[in-house]
Amino acid sequence: MLHSKDRSTVKTLIISNRLPIKIERKKSKLKFTASEGGLATGLGSFYKENGSYWLGWPGIIPKNKEEEAYIREELKKLNLIPVFLTEKQIRDYYEGFSNAVLWPLCHYRPSYVELKESYWNAYQEVNQLFAEATAEIVDPSMRIWVHDYQLMLLPMMLREMNESASIGYFHHIPFPPVELFQMLPWREELLRGLLGADLVGFHTFENVDNFLDSCSGIFQNEIDRDNFRLSGRRISVDVFPMGIDYEKYSQQALSPETITYSQRLKNLFKDQKLILSVDRLDYSKGIIQRLNAFELLLNMHPELIGKVVLFMLIVPSRDQVNQYKKLRNEIDRMVGNINSVYGKPGWQPVAYFYHAVPFEILSAHYLAADICLITSLYDGMNLVSKEYIASKQDAPAVLVISEFAGASKELSDALQINPYAVRRTSETLYEAIEMPLEEQAERLSASQEIISKFTVHHWVNLFMERLSEVKEQQQQELAR
Ligand code: ADP
Ligand code: F6P
Repeated sequence: MLHSKDRSTVKTLIISNRLPIKIERKKSKLKFTASEGGLATGLGSFYKENGSYWLGWPGIIPKNKEEEAYIREELKKLNLIPVFLTEKQIRDYYEGFSNAVLWPLCHYRPSYVELKESYWNAYQEVNQLFAEATAEIVDPSMRIWVHDYQLMLLPMMLREMNESASIGYFHHIPFPPVELFQMLPWREELLRGLLGADLVGFHTFENVDNFLDSCSGIFQNEIDRDNFRLSGRRISVDVFPMGIDYEKYSQQALSPETITYSQRLKNLFKDQKLILSVDRLDYSKGIIQRLNAFELLLNMHPELIGKVVLFMLIVPSRDQVNQYKKLRNEIDRMVGNINSVYGKPGWQPVAYFYHAVPFEILSAHYLAADICLITSLYDGMNLVSKEYIASKQDAPAVLVISEFAGASKELSDALQINPYAVRRTSETLYEAIEMPLEEQAERLSASQEIISKFTVHHWVNLFMERLSEVKEQQQQELAR
């Protein structure tokens, strides 16, 4: 519960499945660290500035009531409110419905979808749990901002509790075309859940179109697409491409600690071009296609042996979900294969790390990398591409980005690839390696201009302004 003093200063209640801080048990001690994933890293750096609170799952099951109370107290100091999940809920709601149904469907992998009634039941149960946790702390004056596919039913549950509440929803991942979405036995409930919000936001126009197509297809006469409303209540659906905390990344890259670490990395890979990739271990990131393209590059350009390294920082993610386990094994196999075929004493073509790194160290990697390679097969936005651009003051820096990452729409000065076209991707990598410094600098500064303007602060303000506008329009319509 928040104290009444806290309540009076709170403006927005952010709700997402995962909190921006995750807790792990290490040698019987609790370890609090920053969560990975675009939603947490994007909003995590500044939500407190506005007196906002954040409700979500801290990623741990407390072992007893005392530990639960301790976690609550510690998180409260950071304006965070935990929702605890049981082992079964983690399995069926998080790993199950969220990441073995919605995630693959939204990322064009219908064959990975596991349609199980038990997953759907758990999804409803946990959305209800979040609704109850919200009801305990929310003040009628607060705006509520629900985030992402794990909580698609929540906006309508909250609407049913308070008809006039200000509720926004943002979908951080792609929204699939109607042909895929309608596969879901629970398509209607999910859409109706989202339509409890006053404002529904997406990263790209394509996602908005897909969402509206699904609404018109599934609700037919109930929805007027051009004057969007449900049961008479106006709902706005719009595009808000998420940005990053530009200052945070550009300033960190100037810190002595980051510069020193980056220099160490450069010395380690002296006279080699450093191609960096940073992502969660996920089939949507195109890691297999990336390795194939890199292998082909070495094959087509033997003169690059010993002169180039693919440095992959991959953070473990959803490792209990079948497809993620399989992917991990496949990556291990491919990296081993490339290193054994192309490596030589003292040099290995692929440096692969399977863990998260602290922010200062991540920044040093961005600073040291000559090239950043993003091969997403489908990605809502992809913040890594923006973090790389912000961390670079100057060339050498080339961003190679998949045209299927939302960020590619804004980053038109980067080299764009279709990651499925492996040969073409390796040719583009070669182009990146050979690109004159002057051209690199021009492209970099054009991208920096965009990313520094459309930051995460800008994104939040735009979303909130739009939410206020919709509420005003609704009130005017009611008064008529
Ligand atoms: P997604 O939301 O699908 O994970 P994004 O690229 O939008 O993809 O966001 C990923 C976030 O996670 C970025 O902010 C990135 O810095 C962080 N991240 C990814 N891999 C690592 C890693 N190995 N160590 C630390 N942070 C990481
Ligand atoms: O940014 C997309 C997203 O799915 C977030 O909703 C999520 O928190 C993040 O990626 C990381 O995934 P997870 O929370 O499953 O580790």
